[in-house]
Amino acid sequence: MAFLSKETIDKAPVMTGAAPELDTAALPEHPGELFASWFELAVEQQVGDARAMHLATVDKAGFPDARVVNLMAVDDNGFSFGTGAGSMKSEQLEENQVAALSFYWQPLLRAVRVRGEAHLAPMPEGASGGFQIWSVQPSHIEFWQGGGGHDATRIQYDKTGEQWGAQVLG
Ligand SMILES: Cc1cc2nc3c(=O)[nH]c(=O)nc-3n(C[C@H](O)[C@H](O)[C@H](O)COP(=O)(O)O)c2cc1C
Repeated sequence: MAFLSKETIDKAPVMTGAAPELDTAALPEHPGELFASWFELAVEQQVGDARAMHLATVDKAGFPDARVVNLMAVDDNGFSFGTGAGSMKSEQLEENQVAALSFYWQPLLRAVRVRGEAHLAPMPEGASGGFQIWSVQPSHIEFWQGGGGHDATRIQYDKTGEQWGAQVLG
């Protein structure tokens, strides 16, 4: 039994946004810079909840989990977010210190996905005891931009040692 008909699903609009200019010949060396420019444009264009990102974690049985959290910072520590110390995501990150993040800025047809190791950040002064900040230190970042029809551009950054390399996947 289908809870939802294909007809209803097909009524949901797809790819209704407009992709901005993207020059894949002039990519910055560090993906943090490209992320910053994409985020800044999302804010400028008033994309709703631009800081919201899906956070995927793995529990101790190897079973994946995902939920939405808000980005707090992007710096040398990686991509940071805050959460309750006793939360499921905190427990899962303590068990398996790896995570994936995914942003989707729908009106711009842009998405970013991040994979990396997660670590607990030192607490800022005056922060409440039940609060934690986790940072995901990226080793892979993919920038995806939809185009007209089925065309999409993917820019993949991978880190080897301390060096980032970028590849345009077309
Ligand atoms: C837009 C949005 C932003 C959210 N931001 C956070 C956040 O920054 N930190 C957080 O712990 N939960 C946030 N949540 C709630 C989580 O998605 C989740 O429901 C909650 O943290 C429990 O997750 P857990 O059981 O896996 O720990 C947000 C939810 C939404 C929809």
